[in-house]
Amino acid sequence: MNKRIFSMNYYLAPMMGYTDCYFRSLIENIYGNRVLTFSEMIVDKAIIHNEIKTISKHFLEKNKSAIQIAGSDPQEIKRTINILNQIDIIKHVNFNLGCPSSRVQENMLGLALTQNYDLVKKCLFELINYKHEVSVKCRLGLGMNEDKNYIFSYLNLFKDIGIKKVFIHCRNGVLNLDTKKNRTIPQINYELFLECSKKFPEMELIPNGEVNNLDTFNSFKSKNINKYMIGRQFAKDALFLEKLKLEKINDKTSLVLDSIKELDNYKYLNINLLKKSLFTLINNISNSKGIKKDFSIIDNTKDLLNYIERKIIWT
Ligand SMILES: Cc1cc2nc3c(=O)[nH]c(=O)nc-3n(C[C@H](O)[C@H](O)[C@H](O)COP(=O)(O)O)c2cc1C
Repeated sequence: MNKRIFSMNYYLAPMMGYTDCYFRSLIENIYGNRVLTFSEMIVDKAIIHNEIKTISKHFLEKNKSAIQIAGSDPQEIKRTINILNQIDIIKHVNFNLGCPSSRVQENMLGLALTQNYDLVKKCLFELINYKHEVSVKCRLGLGMNEDKNYIFSYLNLFKDIGIKKVFIHCRNGVLNLDTKKNRTIPQINYELFLECSKKFPEMELIPNGEVNNLDTFNSFKSKNINKYMIGRQFAKDALFLEKLKLEKINDKTSLVLDSIKELDNYKYLNINLLKKSLFTLINNISNSKGIKKDFSIIDNTKDLLNYIERKIIWT
């Protein structure tokens, strides 16, 4: 299992409202094991109180994605991990320490939890009882100003606890600043990320945040950073890695058809969400307007499959 994960070059970042099982299945079919995907953030309480529905809604039977969870009560994390240890289709748990949204903040989850170092520590002590892979996703700092002490002390904590894989959103998170602004206002700070990589060579630190153009990829590559977590660019244009000539994708049509067929037994199938995921492959091609219009009148997967089979959408 680890072999497969460590050979990944790209990670699809967890994104609420985007990385549902439709979009993840699409990316997994298109890129194979070159991209590891993450579920949207799932609060531990949802797993504790509604395990079967939560898991079966977020994960297909042939799941390959990691689950991202959030929590702030060590006892609840313990219960969640006990449950996840019984679920065979999931093999990687990622813990959210970076989400700044107000609802998440109210519940002391994500970024807000990092105000309380000792509580983070207690939560992580429970997290590491997961029997497969464990990772965390965090911000480079808390508040508007650079604060090396924040990230260094958390990386030391992760290291001491035995969590080596850390996805770092390379900009600070700011509480009481709306979620959208938190993805643009604090400056991206790859320099500090690189400093962390140097300081913690025994850890696997993966940069996230606007890693979406050749300059950034090349600059990381020149520093021996070869794995990246990417969010919005996959959602804008799922084929961007090919456009940048970083990856080659053969026979897109049959890969897309495979992905749709994978949803055959999905109990919660919603054709609109399925179409929404397909738009990420259509947004940037010629005649995208016409194809979207055709899509808008399709209301079942059989017709969608037929349409994609007949029409030459991707070359
Ligand atoms: C719509 C949206 C929803 C997001 N939801 C989550 C989430 O559930 N968990 C999480 O850790 N980060 C979440 N993020 C943050 C992304 O994972 C990522 O850190 C951020 O978008 C920066 O990466 P990018 O510039 O490649 O998009 C979300 C971002 C967006 C745009």
